[in-house]
Amino acid sequence: MRHWPRAEAAAAQPAAGGGASDDDGLSEADAAKALEEYDQANVRGCAKCVLHEQRTQAVFGDGCARPELVFVGEGPGADEDKQGIPFVGRAGQLLTKMIEAMSLTRKQVYICNIVKCRPPGNRTPTEEEMNTCSPYLYWQLSILRPKVIVTLGRPASQTLLQTKTPISRLRGQFHDFPPPGLMDEGLPAAKLMPTFHPAYLLRSPGEKVKAWEDLKQVMAFLGIPIPPRG
Ligand code: URA
Ligand code: SF4
Repeated sequence: MRHWPRAEAAAAQPAAGGGASDDDGLSEADAAKALEEYDQANVRGCAKCVLHEQRTQAVFGDGCARPELVFVGEGPGADEDKQGIPFVGRAGQLLTKMIEAMSLTRKQVYICNIVKCRPPGNRTPTEEEMNTCSPYLYWQLSILRPKVIVTLGRPASQTLLQTKTPISRLRGQFHDFPPPGLMDEGLPAAKLMPTFHPAYLLRSPGEKVKAWEDLKQVMAFLGIPIPPRG
């Protein structure tokens, strides 16, 4: 089985993440406060779709409030629902390895999902659920203002690009965000790289090499040296 290349010095890359773009003057502390307040006021108690019925808690997001890089997944699973933190189960552990292979840490990036409440039995969220919940994500992005968004898997990629193109054709190249269908949301411009979801990579480890190619493009864009690998 293929392993992720080891992070050379994850902590020795302060320039690669955590650097707020100061175009709106919001410090990381202010952004973190804004995110926390928004979560408390709008998301924790949200009952706008049926997913609120079976959740333990809504899972808003985790990481740096002014990151260069944001990862967007599908929705919380059982572990995330219990802990209130995105990507902490098996797929989350692989995502953490992928982030570290990019010479970054989870604290330097931001991680969240298209829907904030766990779909029962880990089913894929419906289009209606994703459309109901995605304004929260758009608001998050307007505070986070990342340079690059990596969407993990089909639902996140298709929702943020407003397309039905399969993930296998979307991945591997940068797309402009926001797409034409989201131009009215006041979203900050970013480069968007779709890649495979880590849960899919756990089932199909042979595809990891493609996901790593995608992440290397993101590293190159952000000016992060690509570690030599075996
Ligand atoms: N899968 C996701 O898409 N998101 C999580 O937070 C965990 C697993
Ligand atoms: Fe609200 Fe989103 Fe949870 Fe649905 S998934 S109840 S829209 S926070």
